[in-house]
Amino acid sequence: MSTIAVLGTGLLGAGFAQRMLGLGHTVRVWNRTAERCAPLVNDGATLAPTPADAVRGADYVHLILSADRAVDSVIEQLRPGLPAGTPILDHSTNLPAGVAERFSRLREDAVRYLHAPVFMGPRNSREGTGLMLIAGPQAETEALTAYLSTLTGTVQNLGERPDKAAAVKIIGNSVLLMLTATMSDAFAVGNATGVTPEEIVEFFKTFSPTPGGMGRRVLSSESAPVGFEATMARKDAGLMIDSAGAENLLLLPAIAAAMDAGIAAGRGKEDFTALFRPA
Ligand SMILES: NC(=O)c1ccc[n+]([C@@H]2O[C@H](COP(=O)([O-])OP(=O)(O)OC[C@H]3O[C@@H](n4cnc5c(N)ncnc54)[C@H](OP(=O)(O)O)[C@@H]3O)[C@@H](O)[C@H]2O)c1
Repeated sequence: MSTIAVLGTGLLGAGFAQRMLGLGHTVRVWNRTAERCAPLVNDGATLAPTPADAVRGADYVHLILSADRAVDSVIEQLRPGLPAGTPILDHSTNLPAGVAERFSRLREDAVRYLHAPVFMGPRNSREGTGLMLIAGPQAETEALTAYLSTLTGTVQNLGERPDKAAAVKIIGNSVLLMLTATMSDAFAVGNATGVTPEEIVEFFKTFSPTPGGMGRRVLSSESAPVGFEATMARKDAGLMIDSAGAENLLLLPAIAAAMDAGIAAGRGKEDFTALFRPA
């Protein structure tokens, strides 16, 4: 069993601390607002008065903080207590450039900072399920995989580049946000055409395009035969927008405008997916 410091016991951090306690580790918790640690102390964690006290003698240090500014501030505060060689595993969703800068700066001082952002909600962190990304020096990430696997469902190693997991995390979240907005537009068209949100959700059990599938189609659009011409797909966008009438559409008008620009540039006979190929 290990001694683990958890700094940041918000929604996600509290779940991680509970999981670690359940696995039998010695868990020290610190949170800017100390009262938030009370339930964890009740469950057997030790409340540390400062970040430095939390990490003193720890085998692993976990940060689950809002983002870069909090991460830099807490690392500065914990460093006086940090044992040489103890990894700092940062699960906060950060700016990739912030992670790259922090990694270089801390490594110059031999501080083993690694960014390991997650696709995990509070329940995942309590139960040790979901997906954790990690990137950085491979000898270190590989040595940590067995330990990290006890805290999540899957650990995905994205290679040497220290800010790669940060980049993939925000790309993943961008798709989550866009899919959510996508459903808002679908519900708006449904509302205007007499199809209920429940019926729409039911329909997507049988018709369910995926981000990966659409991504592959976009990437192969240069070589694949044309299946659905851009002009025809733009006609359909018009049908959706016209049907929605006064309903609030978040994405469809921007998509229609992008297609208009492609068609105006002479690309109307290409597959519609080709208009969205990366430059
Ligand atoms: N919740 C999710 O489903 C989820 C999923 C994936 C990733 N994430 C990421 O996980 C991280 C934590 O999210 P959360 O949902 O647990 O949020 P949260 O409940 O709001 O927790 C945020 C934590 O950051 C601390 N904090 C904020 N500013 C600080 C500062 N200047 N100095 C020290 N501590 C500071 C907060 O302390 P106080 O309690 O004092 O405010 C709290 O412990 C975020 O980066 C989030 O994007 C969350």
